[in-house]
Formats: sequence, C-alpha cells, structure tokens
Amino acid sequence: VREAIPSWAHHFVRSEREDLVVDSSLRASMTVRRADLFTFTPFGTYDVILCRNVLIYLAKPARERLVRRLVSWLAPDGAIGTGHADNAMDLLGDFTPVGPTGAFLFERAAAPAPVPATRHAPPPVRREAPRPVAAPAIPSRPAPRAQPPSRRDDLEAALRREPDRLDLLLELAELHVAAGDVARAEDAFRRIVYLDAKHEHALVRLADLAERQGKSDVAARFRSRALDAHLEREE
Ligand SMILES: C[S@@+](CC[C@H](N)C(=O)[O-])C[C@H]1O[C@@H](n2cnc3c(N)ncnc32)[C@H](O)[C@@H]1O
Repeated sequence: VREAIPSWAHHFVRSEREDLVVDSSLRASMTVRRADLFTFTPFGTYDVILCRNVLIYLAKPARERLVRRLVSWLAPDGAIGTGHADNAMDLLGDFTPVGPTGAFLFERAAAPAPVPATRHAPPPVRREAPRPVAAPAIPSRPAPRAQPPSRRDDLEAALRREPDRLDLLLELAELHVAAGDVARAEDAFRRIVYLDAKHEHALVRLADLAERQGKSDVAARFRSRALDAHLEREE
C-alpha cells in the first residue's frame, strides 16, 4: 500500500508505525501457504485469484501454462487479477476486464444470448450438466483491426513537435499493436526504451513482440530487463 489506507478497508487493515496490521477477525478466516504455483493443487475453486507481477518473470510457454492453471482454479463467476506489467490480456481470451478503466481484474466474458427458437427450429438438444471449469485454449491473435487514422495522425504530428513525449509514443505504439503492425509497434517501443532504458511496459511489450516472431532469446533478454526494472522500482 503506497498511499493512505482507503476508508472502505479501515475495518480490515490499520497502520501501526511502519507496519500494516490485518484485523484479527480477518486473519482468523485466512490460511497462508507457501507453494510453487506450478505444482500446487488447491482443494476447491477460488472466487478471486490475485496473482500480481508473477507472470512477468516467465517466458511464453510458462506464462501460458500458469494462466491455464490459474483459470482452472477459478469458480465459474470468479475473477482473476494480474499486474499491469504482467500484460496478461492476450492470455485471458475468454475474460473481460471489470471495474474502472485500466483495472487489472478480469471475469469470464458472458456467454452469448441464446438464439430464439423458430417454427422450423430442430428439436431442442438435451442440455448437458455444467462442465467443471476447464482451462480455455490460449486464443490465437485476433485479425488486425483497422486503426483510427485520425488519432494516429494526431499522435505522429504531436511527436514531430515533441519527439520525446513518452506518453504519446506509448499510445502510438499500442495503436500499432492493436492494428497488428508489429514493425511500427517495435520501432515505437524501442524509441521509448532508448529514451528510458528502464521503461517496464515498453520492455515487456518488446518481449511479447519478439516472442510472437519466434525470437525467444531476444524476448528473454527484454523480459529480464523488464524484471530488473520492476524490482528496482519496487525497492
Ligand atoms: C515481483 S514479485 C510480486 C509479489 C507480489 N505479488 C506483488 O505484487 O508485490 C513476484 C513473486 O512471484 C513469486 N514467484 C515466482 N515464481 C513462482 C512460483 N513458481 N510459485 C510461486 N511464487 C512464485 C516470487 O517469489 C515473488 O515473490
């Protein structure tokens, strides 16, 4: 907790000198276990899984494996939280962000509404009992979307005036990612890293883009730099 404890949490947590103290009523309902996420087996499912800044450590196959494991532990209407730097959106294809914009919490996307029956509809198929929560397949990359030219043009024009604006570069880079333009996205992220060698978000994105092109050694280097930057910032 970097800032003041929000009022809604005062029932549960208080600050004492340098420490945060969790209220005994809450502590009584907690179990703390240390475990390896790759071998741990939970007793049941969880309503909420918070796994912040752990995926950032891992190369693509391990990231995919861990996300599949976490998702398989989640109750059907459960929510999963990751860190901003984990960049887990790609891996949570069946999930949708919930809460305020930029929130890190995801829930399973609602199933599509059933198609209404018509007179010629085939006889209804017997409904199967709900299946146990299964890990969804890692989705393939969506087809490139058309990017809004006006915003991109605005950003490029603004960057000609102020070439070192990291916020504009980042927005432009993300627009290129959304449009599937890997080369331009890479250029923009590399420019960000040139300006700020410890820019965690850009380093993670460069790792993802390298991974996507099968350059796992380059990806590993960017990921390791991102992790160093992250740990340095946490200190
Ligand atoms: C960057 S820290 C994040 C800690 C905390 N979640 C946070 O948000 O501040 C990453 C944590 O992941 C843990 N970790 C890495 N691999 C793990 C694994 N296979 N099983 C369990 N924990 C792991 C590390 O021990 C470390 O505490």
